[in-house]
Amino acid sequence: MCGIVGYTGHKDAGKVIISGLKRLEYRGYDSAGIAVKNEGSIYLQKKKGRIDQLDETEVPKYDAGIGHTRWATHGKPSDENAHPFLDCDENIALVHNGIIDNFNSIKDELLDKGHEFTSETDSEVIVHLIEENYHGDILEAFKKTIEFIEGSYAVALIHKDSNELIVARNESPLVIGVGSGENFVASDVPALLDHTKDVKYLLDGDIARVTRNEIEIWDEKDELVERETKRIDWDVEDAEKSGYEHYMLKEIFEQPKAIHESILGRLTSFDDVDLLKYDIDSVQFIACGTSSHAGYVGRYIFENLAEIPCTVEVSSEYRYTSPSDSTPFTILFSQSGETLDTIAAAREARKRGCNTLAVTNVMDSSITREVDEVVYTQAGPEIGVAATKTFTTQVIILYLLAIELGLKKGVLSRDKAEEYKDELRRLPRKVERILDDMDKIKDITERLSESRDIFFVGRNINYPVALEGALKLKEIAYIHAAGYPAGELKHGPFALLTEDTPVIALAVKDHTFQKMLGNIGEIAARNSPVIVVGDEDREIKKLADDFYFIPETTPIFSPLLVNVVLQLIAYYTAYRLDRDIDKPRNLAKSVTVE
Ligand code: AGP
Repeated sequence: MCGIVGYTGHKDAGKVIISGLKRLEYRGYDSAGIAVKNEGSIYLQKKKGRIDQLDETEVPKYDAGIGHTRWATHGKPSDENAHPFLDCDENIALVHNGIIDNFNSIKDELLDKGHEFTSETDSEVIVHLIEENYHGDILEAFKKTIEFIEGSYAVALIHKDSNELIVARNESPLVIGVGSGENFVASDVPALLDHTKDVKYLLDGDIARVTRNEIEIWDEKDELVERETKRIDWDVEDAEKSGYEHYMLKEIFEQPKAIHESILGRLTSFDDVDLLKYDIDSVQFIACGTSSHAGYVGRYIFENLAEIPCTVEVSSEYRYTSPSDSTPFTILFSQSGETLDTIAAAREARKRGCNTLAVTNVMDSSITREVDEVVYTQAGPEIGVAATKTFTTQVIILYLLAIELGLKKGVLSRDKAEEYKDELRRLPRKVERILDDMDKIKDITERLSESRDIFFVGRNINYPVALEGALKLKEIAYIHAAGYPAGELKHGPFALLTEDTPVIALAVKDHTFQKMLGNIGEIAARNSPVIVVGDEDREIKKLADDFYFIPETTPIFSPLLVNVVLQLIAYYTAYRLDRDIDKPRNLAKSVTVE
């Protein structure tokens, strides 16, 4: 939810930190700040708003420091609530990502002891607690402090008399960048790639002391441990915009490549997981947001290809349902692998005796340590807050898993499986054909950008796509949009249809097509503009005010093609409205709070 960067080495720490924060701005941009260790003192600059508000020229050139870009949880966006925070004597500076659950009681005790607070945040209690525990050894003071802290944290701190960084993580991500004569810490890899591709992922409970030449890590039992140095196989350019105006557009256009990378080597044999290890007679999909929509699509894919009954749960709800005796095979989706609700749901599912599999896009992300199996989507880094290629590749993984399961259960013939695999191979080209039509799709958005309410409706496997299309429009165009099963409109939503309420109807030629045609006619009869996305059809040309026909495909693969059209509709509608497409207001790329 927030972005942290730390540096110690031979370069200008301020420059390294501010450029690193800019690569993490997608994690939150309510305020930003930096603290560098000056000669025996700490220089601090922090402001409400984006990282560009910071004046780099004012930062003294020194060789150790920390920085932070914030997504507000406790305390509104303001200069005072921006990180880093200093202790009362201004000897220690600290940044934090996460939520301290017991901060009120700690703050009351510290206030009673005379500590003065400058913010209304939970994070500030940490630095004053360290001050309380400090007796000359900052690492020992920090270790003692962590014992009192309940909640999630990724923390980095510096002391004015040392160039070392003290860092720790629990449920919020933190990675160490391994340099030569310099070392780095960050919430996510893009902040490191200008300097190093060698990283060490900290685990929950780890505390580390990082100097320019040494990295010491203690685990939750306070034992000195080694964490493997891993090589990042993508580079800054991958995380850059490559000439596109927005990350989101770049990532929409990366989908053919992302699909190709996600099926590569997996169609001949899908060795990521041995599903035969598990007795799978039912499946539950659990996720948040767009990832939950992938789970909804997965339900139709699994029930169709593997004849397995499935349920879909939203992570934040699943956690608080009453446990039942059933232990469905649980598939969790999280592109970031850091969504706290989904991580908590993974733990809950395990506690209930379910075998669990995570589908994620980030190597070694937190969720990978909470499940029995992991399948990576291979979509490459996704920087835009709105998920696009990662949704597509999550669904690709679902096809691969369902084909594998269907074959192993003997309900899917080899011939049929090969047919599906051939269509998967053709999908990248079909997506490219849609992307080539972007101007035609852009024209459709003209009427949408003036709308205040928009409906998306679909049936069967495209009902979840209606949900996803509505979410995309909401989150980047700031237009109220609702996704409905097409058959539900007459049970209430029709009351909202006027000639100013466009409806985007998803109509593919599966067994529900005729019913869908009927729904389109009902909508048109109420003079609401109806835009159809789906299979080519003469009747649709007569009924629809506008339409886009996707390349021909098997209905079960239509969600991916329809969804690319809806992504472009959302993008160009937001573009017409001059929205901040990559960093929509009030949102962040990874929701690491619950
Ligand atoms: C999707 O565009 C949103 N950014 C959001 O709904 C997202 O899908 C959700 O927060 C889940 O994120 P995750 O996949 O990283 O867990």
